[in-house]
Amino acid sequence: MSEVLKIHKVTIDVDALRDLVKDDVQAVDALIRARLSSDVALINQLSHYIINSGGKRLRPLLVLLAARACHYQGDQHINLAAVIEFIHTATLLHDDVVDASKLRRGNMTANAVWGNEAAVLVGDFLYSRAFEMMVEADDMHIMEIMSHTTNTIAEGEVLQLLNCHDAATTEQRYLEVVSRKTAKLFEAAARIGAILGGQPEATETALAAYGMHLGVAFQLVDDALDYSASPEDTGKNLGDDLAEGKPTLPLIHAINTGTPEQSELLRKAIENGGHDNMADVCAAIESTGGIPYTAQAAQREAGLAIAALDPLPASPYKEALYSLADRKPYLLIGV
Ligand code: IPE
Ligand code: IPE
Ligand code: MG
Ligand code: MG
Repeated sequence: MSEVLKIHKVTIDVDALRDLVKDDVQAVDALIRARLSSDVALINQLSHYIINSGGKRLRPLLVLLAARACHYQGDQHINLAAVIEFIHTATLLHDDVVDASKLRRGNMTANAVWGNEAAVLVGDFLYSRAFEMMVEADDMHIMEIMSHTTNTIAEGEVLQLLNCHDAATTEQRYLEVVSRKTAKLFEAAARIGAILGGQPEATETALAAYGMHLGVAFQLVDDALDYSASPEDTGKNLGDDLAEGKPTLPLIHAINTGTPEQSELLRKAIENGGHDNMADVCAAIESTGGIPYTAQAAQREAGLAIAALDPLPASPYKEALYSLADRKPYLLIGV
């Protein structure tokens, strides 16, 4: 059994970090609910379903902690934290259609309940609602970052589509996808705190680097868990990545370091997709140490995230950002 799986069972107290910005967290929650509304019944139904299904709200937490760490005193961090969660939720609605996923946050995916068409269109509603709210921040620099971020996420998902069923996908190409589809939004979340706080560019860059590294670590762990966790832990079905022919790091490492027979089996599994070869694929990942290799890469990224925080002035909020990365990002999945 992999190291990640064992460690994943340890419970951690992210609530203590949330408590530090408790009022802000509640305000974000209220705003999210208020801004979901539409006079189109299906939009209300589907968007409330996904928003109420228990996401961890990690990205809004990053906005709040970063803004407080940068001594921000206004109220736009609430609005922008909600914007970031809407964008995240929209990407999930679309991602579950693209990945043909059936389980998310321990519930049926929106596409499984209402069908692909409704999930895609309500995803569009959330994206565009996020942009309406962003305009209210009335800050061109933030608009520029958020529009570029949203665009980059879309590029990441398309790049990943191109890698699907391509057994020649390298670690570098994989990491490019990860930094665009996932880490870019973490980067924006942390960076916005610095911009709101009117911090010098060095602090903005430091927080951006923190978010980028944390986001890469987070996705690496998500990809390891797709082979090693249980649906009870992650709220998602195991083996979704393989079924889609997605060459993620555990597989890429196993292809690169396995026996010729193993590499051949894995290449075929990526090319064909499906769940049929799951047991053999898992055995090959196990014997080549694909999960610890991925977990170590995540640990390295988490270390870089922590190091990036150096220029920030000391505060409990900085400590919270530090411990979000230090608590080993794989523990954050399924919290
Ligand atoms: C899921 O993100 C998508 C990935 C980048 C792996 P989260 O694990 O933050 O999803 P929720 O919002 O908490 O469900
Ligand atoms: C995360 O990708 C989705 C986005 C960042 C857009 P995945 O497909 O790996 O995430 P899960 O495993 O479905 O949550
Ligand atoms: Mg997915
Ligand atoms: Mg995944």
